[in-house]
Amino acid sequence: SVEEMEKRVIQIKKQLGKRLFIPAHHYQKDEVVQFADATGDSLQLAQLSEKNKDAEVIVFCGVHFMAETADILTSKDQKVLLPDLRAGCSLADMADIGQTEKCWDILQDTFGDTIIPLTYINSTAAIKAFVGKHGGATVTSSNAKKMITWALEQKERILFLPDQHLGRNVSHELGIPLDEMAVWNPQTSSFEYDGDIQDAKIILWKGHCSVHENFTADNVKEIREKHPDMNVIVHPECPHETVRAADKSGSTSYIIRTIEEAPAKSKWAIGTEMNLVKRLMNQHPDKKIISLNPYLCACLTMNRITLPYLLASLESIISEEYVHEIHVEQETADNAILALNRMLKNV
Ligand code: 13P
Ligand code: SF4
Repeated sequence: SVEEMEKRVIQIKKQLGKRLFIPAHHYQKDEVVQFADATGDSLQLAQLSEKNKDAEVIVFCGVHFMAETADILTSKDQKVLLPDLRAGCSLADMADIGQTEKCWDILQDTFGDTIIPLTYINSTAAIKAFVGKHGGATVTSSNAKKMITWALEQKERILFLPDQHLGRNVSHELGIPLDEMAVWNPQTSSFEYDGDIQDAKIILWKGHCSVHENFTADNVKEIREKHPDMNVIVHPECPHETVRAADKSGSTSYIIRTIEEAPAKSKWAIGTEMNLVKRLMNQHPDKKIISLNPYLCACLTMNRITLPYLLASLESIISEEYVHEIHVEQETADNAILALNRMLKNV
C-alpha cells in the first residue's frame, strides 16, 4: 500500500542519513517531492550537486539530463541513480551529437570563427561536451540573459541549442531584433531565414519542449477576455508569441517566487508544467491560480518518477545493486564540465 511504501522510504532515509541525497525538480509529483532533501530549478539543482560532497548516493528525481549533469558535477566515487531510466526529455532528444557536428561544420564554413555555441542545460552530456570543447557554455532558463550577454562578448554570433523558444525569447528581451535570428533545421541541415544569412546574429536550433509548446497566444487572449484582472505568467520555453502576450516570464523558481510574493486575492494564469501549477494552487489558497491551458500540460517523462520507482531505487542502495546508475563517460564529462563551469562561475 501507499502507506507501507511511504513508511519504508522514511526508514531507508533514516538508515542512510547523510550518505543519501534526494534532489527533486519542481515538476516532480507531490508523492516524490515530499521525500526530497531539496527542490529547485535546473540551475539550483546543478549548484546543489556541485556543492554536495557528503552523499555517497544521489537519487535524482528529475529527468535524464539532470542526472547526467549531477554525475558530471559530483566526484567519481559518488553514485547518481535515476529511479526510472525512461524519464528522458523530448527537448534534449531533439539535438543529437551527429546533427550538431554537421551543423557546426556548416556554421564554420558560413561564418568562420565568429560564432560560439551555447546549449540549454536540457541537452545530452555529449552536446554539453561538444559545446565545452568549442569554448561555449551551458545555460538555464534562470541565467540565459546573462549567458547570452556573455557569449556575445566572446563572439559576434551564437548557435543556441536545442530550444529555439528560450533562445528567441531571451535574445529578444536583450534587444536583438527577430530578423537577426535564423533557425537551423537539423532534419534538412539547412537554415530557415529570409535574407542574407550573414546578417543573422543568433542561430536557433529547431527544437522545442513538447509541454510548453502547448501554451499559445490564443490561450492568453481567452484569459484576457474572460478574466481581465488576471495576471499571466509563463515559462520562457513557451513560443515567442505566448511570452509576448503574457505579463511575465521566467524559470520555475521565478514563477514560484512571483506567486509567493503576490498579494492575497491576486489572480494568476500560469503557463508551465501541471505538477508545479497544482502545487502552487494548493500552497496559495488565498490567491486564484489556474493553468493557462488546462488540457495538455503534463510532462510525461517527469511523471515517470513515482513513489514505487523512488522506493525501488532506494531499496537498490540497501541491496547494493544500485539500479539505473547514470554514469557519464570520462572524456565526455571532462569536456562537458568546461561548459558547465563557464556557466556556474558566471552566475
Ligand atoms: P527550470 O526549472 O530551469 O525553469 O527548467 C524547466 C524545465 O523544463 C526543466 O525540464
Ligand atoms: Fe523536457 Fe519540457 Fe519535460 Fe522539461 S518539461 S523535462 S523541457 S519535455
